[in-house]
Amino acid sequence: MRVGGLAMIVAVAAALPAASASAQSLDYEFFKTRVEPIFLKKKPGHTRCYVCHAESNNAFRLEKLPPGAKFWTEEQSRRNFETVSRLVVPGNFAASRLLFMPLAPEAGGNAFHNGGRQFASKDDPDWKTLAQWANGQSR
Ligand code: HEC
Repeated sequence: MRVGGLAMIVAVAAALPAASASAQSLDYEFFKTRVEPIFLKKKPGHTRCYVCHAESNNAFRLEKLPPGAKFWTEEQSRRNFETVSRLVVPGNFAASRLLFMPLAPEAGGNAFHNGGRQFASKDDPDWKTLAQWANGQSR
């Protein structure tokens, strides 16, 4: 029992440097001011990300807005940041679910996304903002 617990602590500690390296290149302020608004924004012909992804049961699970509020609290934004940070790997498009899931397949995106082709191409300004953040280029 003791030995098992210790092994787990060692395993977690070993996994930490990689996680914090990628979290370090991701900019929280940029996330809050530029990326989060995209999740709430209504695009013509599309449902807002937030409508499907608030408390969703997939890995892109956004916090539920407080009743009547138009934006998340600081604490909620921090949690969103942690959640969404796990969906990107700076400099690695193929591993960044946030970038390829909502992108049209013709543009290199995923063939299947229940939320549809939210971004027709990588030239979409909002997609570019997501990519800028995900690639750690917002600092
Ligand atoms: C109409 C509902 C809907 C909308 C709108 C929507 N999504 Fe999704 N999304 C889903 C569902 C359902 C899944 C999980 C199943 C799948 O693969 O389609 C998903 C999966 C994802 C995933 C992968 C999560 C995982 O578990 O790995 C990402 C990232 C994502 N969506 C991003 C977005 C972004 C960004 C937007 C807005 C620009 C968006 N989605 C809009 C329904 C939606």
